[in-house]
Amino acid sequence: MVAKLFEGCPPRQGSLILDPGCGSGAFIQGIVRWSNQHEVAVPRVVGIESDPRHLPEARRGVAGLSSVAILNEDFLDPRKELFDYVIGNPPYVPITDLTIAERGRYRERYATARGRFDLYLLFYEQALRLLKPGGRLVFITPEKFLYVRTAEPLRRALARFSIEEIHLVDETTFGDLVTYPAITTIVNSRALTPTRVIFRDGDRREVRLPADGTSWIPAINGDSAPRSELTLADICRRVSCGVATGADAVFVTPTAQLPANLWRFAFPTIAGRQIRIGQALHSSHSILVPYGRSGDLLGEEQLGELGTYLRQPEQQSRLERRTCVTHKRWYAFHENPPLTDILRPKILCKDITSRPFFLADEAGEIVPRHSVYYIVPKDPSQLHQICDHLNSSDARAWLEAHCQRAANGFFRLQSHVLKHVPVPPSLANAHQETLFASAGADR
Ligand SMILES: C[S@@+](CC[C@H](N)C(=O)[O-])C[C@H]1O[C@@H](n2cnc3c(N)ncnc32)[C@H](O)[C@@H]1O
Repeated sequence: MVAKLFEGCPPRQGSLILDPGCGSGAFIQGIVRWSNQHEVAVPRVVGIESDPRHLPEARRGVAGLSSVAILNEDFLDPRKELFDYVIGNPPYVPITDLTIAERGRYRERYATARGRFDLYLLFYEQALRLLKPGGRLVFITPEKFLYVRTAEPLRRALARFSIEEIHLVDETTFGDLVTYPAITTIVNSRALTPTRVIFRDGDRREVRLPADGTSWIPAINGDSAPRSELTLADICRRVSCGVATGADAVFVTPTAQLPANLWRFAFPTIAGRQIRIGQALHSSHSILVPYGRSGDLLGEEQLGELGTYLRQPEQQSRLERRTCVTHKRWYAFHENPPLTDILRPKILCKDITSRPFFLADEAGEIVPRHSVYYIVPKDPSQLHQICDHLNSSDARAWLEAHCQRAANGFFRLQSHVLKHVPVPPSLANAHQETLFASAGADR
């Protein structure tokens, strides 16, 4: 990373380098080694670290070097001094690990503190703000900022800089700590040249990254082909995540063990792990649904045998321990299931998968659980056509280019991505016919 920082632009006398979140000073040591190898004086370096436990080691490592200062400060506090170089491995701290006060303070000060932000995005923003014109920055972070929605403000901010290189480094670089790290080299200048991407298999590609905050993954994956304007959202009445009960242990049971007196409340159900690539749809479990087919929660007096089952002390106390019951009936699902959409012919897919794979539920009786996404065509007669399209190599390539990555190279299918899958124009015609047909039926 130090070599990348100084590539084609070695530090001059008086150059000032920043290491925000310097920890015990690994990068500062790297700068000292680089200077010794190149037989130049160690440039001025400022390391900033908020955790005092790291300071003794960081300071010991640079003892006797008057050009290096290690400050015990919060890097995210307002600062003025500008730097010629920034190098860092910013902290990866999800919003859930921040106090409410910290979240509020950061949201006031940082454009990147949006949605479920992570601290490394804010480190990026502050570091870019402190980079002198022509200055260079090298950060190692999770690669997620290349595509997650939360990083849209950062991607928009980065459009004003030249992203010289994105180096997708080995997953094991930080042991188990970071999945899919990326080393990004940025220059504070207009982007005159394309960005060099170095892939994990050593492949290289020059790409032009979009400036509008949208995901960089399609450009990085070389997906520039013009696409059909029509998307899955246009031809479907719903693309959603399956049902969250908050207590599957109570509501879900192997169908073979389901007592006959509960059959009338039960629907076949499926979880993501039961969807297997290349295999037919098979439900071995049932879900007990305390809702009518119109999606309304049944009154307690309407529950009958289901009420008796749910009121067993162990079941009821389990249901009452769920956080959702503070504002819901004790036997309601964590989220109300939109049964009028769910109980229709639909397409199912696993939320996290090694390869996007779709199955049709022609009878429309399966209630998908939270680890399954379901896609309900507006026109049920298009069910298999849409399912075949989603399983086509075209749609798969699109999904693989646009989906977030989970661990081990798996893809995370999410409804906001699924909704944008381009679909062939031929599906639009049928959709319009259906629209006319249903308008007629309404009248
Ligand atoms: C991922 S570690 C990197 C440490 C070091 N740069 C390295 O690569 O070994 C991030 C460091 O940032 C520090 N840190 C977290 N929040 C900080 C803040 N607001 N200001 C300064 N340092 C912070 C943490 O204490 C931690 O040492």
